[in-house]
Amino acid sequence: MSDADDREIKLVMAFVRPDKLSDVKQALAEIGAPSLTVTNVSGRGSQPAKKGQWRGEEYTVDLHQKVKVECVVADIPADDVVEAIGEAAHTGEKGDGKVFVLPVESAYQIRTGKTGPDAV
Ligand SMILES: Nc1ncnc2c1ncn2[C@@H]1O[C@H](COP(=O)(O)OP(=O)(O)OP(=O)(O)O)[C@@H](O)[C@H]1O
Ligand SMILES: [Mg+2]
Repeated sequence: MSDADDREIKLVMAFVRPDKLSDVKQALAEIGAPSLTVTNVSGRGSQPAKKGQWRGEEYTVDLHQKVKVECVVADIPADDVVEAIGEAAHTGEKGDGKVFVLPVESAYQIRTGKTGPDAV
């Protein structure tokens, strides 16, 4: 087929602070990658669990509320997406989050029937 089919499709999956979501959305729009899926998640990174007390009962905090942002790109380099999210979500404190990049095998736009990078 055409050269167009050599374009790689990547999934950028980021875990960020919920209060950074609007900055992240804006940064993605600014680099021309406005499409995204957002999910509220709970998770943990590398910090050990913290113990607390509430009404005399001890509890353990080992999961934190985060937002998962998934962004599939074909024409925008995944590195640019990672950089935009990283800058927008950065505070410098522990728990700022992480960004992973995964290969995407195929894509299909339901309305048009387009496939591959053109469907993204
Ligand atoms: N290796 C991982 N696998 C899956 N999810 C992860 C991983 N690392 C981080 N996450 C997700 O990202 C969120 C934020 O992670 P976090 O920023 O605390 O990572 P960290 O490695 O502890 O870095 P920091 O020292 O800056 O806190 C976690 O709550 C979890 O949802
Ligand atoms: Mg952490």
